[in-house]
Amino acid sequence: MATAQKESWQSGLGFVLAASGSAVGLGNLWGFAYRASQGGGGTFVLLYVLIVMTICLPVLVAEMVLGRSTGRSPLLAPVQAAGRAWQPMGWLFVVVSCGILAFYGVLMGWTGQTLLHALQVGLPSSMGEAELFFAGISGGQSAIAGQAVSMLLTAVVVAAGVQAGIERLSRMALPMLFLLLVVLAVWASSLPGAAEGYRTFLLRWDSQELFNITTIRNAFTQAFFSVGTGIGAILAYSAYLNRKAPIPSEAVAIVGLDTAVGLLAGLLTFPVVISFGLGDAVSGSTIGTIFLSLPTGLGSIGLTGRIVAVTFFSLAYLAAITSSVSLLEVPVAALMDRCNWSRRNAAWVSAAVIFVVGLPAATDLNVLGTMDDLFGGVLLIAGGLLIAVLMGWFASRSFLEDLKNSGITPPARAGIILFFLRWVSPLVIAAGLLISVVDLIGKWTYVPR
Ligand code: TRP
Repeated sequence: MATAQKESWQSGLGFVLAASGSAVGLGNLWGFAYRASQGGGGTFVLLYVLIVMTICLPVLVAEMVLGRSTGRSPLLAPVQAAGRAWQPMGWLFVVVSCGILAFYGVLMGWTGQTLLHALQVGLPSSMGEAELFFAGISGGQSAIAGQAVSMLLTAVVVAAGVQAGIERLSRMALPMLFLLLVVLAVWASSLPGAAEGYRTFLLRWDSQELFNITTIRNAFTQAFFSVGTGIGAILAYSAYLNRKAPIPSEAVAIVGLDTAVGLLAGLLTFPVVISFGLGDAVSGSTIGTIFLSLPTGLGSIGLTGRIVAVTFFSLAYLAAITSSVSLLEVPVAALMDRCNWSRRNAAWVSAAVIFVVGLPAATDLNVLGTMDDLFGGVLLIAGGLLIAVLMGWFASRSFLEDLKNSGITPPARAGIILFFLRWVSPLVIAAGLLISVVDLIGKWTYVPR
């Protein structure tokens, strides 16, 4: 039992980079931009930031403490912290992580294919051409091949271990990714439509959107998905954390970096989209829109555009791998912890199973959308709610004790976080969950006339 405890991070910075790598992913580069454009621009951004600061941040701290204080995998940590009755929560973590990774692998495949295409062939010259291209990569063999390669790479990194795999990749990828994105955002600010792009998407204010349940659902989903808290991925990472790590400050760093990357991605995407007159394409959005309008916009400015596209899609792919490894770590840690499997076997078997589960999503966009709504929307948020309730009410003593033992978090700060976990997070998340379910039922049962 508990072989998982033997591994550890090489340094505090290594952990923060790995956890930020988990947070920063396709969700920031695509999800943020397209959800912001769907739901009222600046209004969405405000809702998003509010949810992240008051809800996701305390839940992230709770998830990290749950991992460190128990030293167990996500499957067994809830039981260790609060008794057998919490076993279903462990299963929820494993199932939802696998479910999210199943469709995430498909999205990674699209990203990889777009990169290869931009590199080898070039960019589409019209929206029509882009749609044809996208239809090619997002269906059939090409999608499956991209998904297979992505799951393979994910398994290679996780099999290599915490330090030699996950930490090493994140140390290399994350600083580079951030730097490149800053460069691209600066480049985009020189485009003729830049100011208009910022205004349309990031600064537009529409207070009615605050009451639009789809906008609220989008903000909740985006916040939990992007920070990556709620289903034990960061819990798994935190089990390898040492007693002295300043968890609350680390959580602030992770959330801050994640939000910065989401905004930076917007500062790149929106100027491009507006400059090349593709604004309509974004707001009528599906998951694939940024795969369409960004390449097409960049395609109209020759070599520079192609270089930007290749840079952007490489960076996106790197960001995606540092995220997918955190999702795979959940079933892998569970198999190591509960069944005493070796890391290598656990990684390969889990990746293979998840690949198969993702096949329907690779061949059918509707399945992919539904999996996103169900796992990334409803169940992820439900997991966040359970974490807040568990740590706020049922294991609050070990929560305070763990933070106190680190010798670095002032008791008053721990108390404030606990207050949020008890009284603010559960209520707000429960409301968000209810709104999401109502909105989704409306969407699923909607019959166009
Ligand atoms: N946060 C990642 C992104 O934005 C995806 C991700 C990684 C995730 N780990 C997670 C989502 C855990 C939910 C839960 O792309």
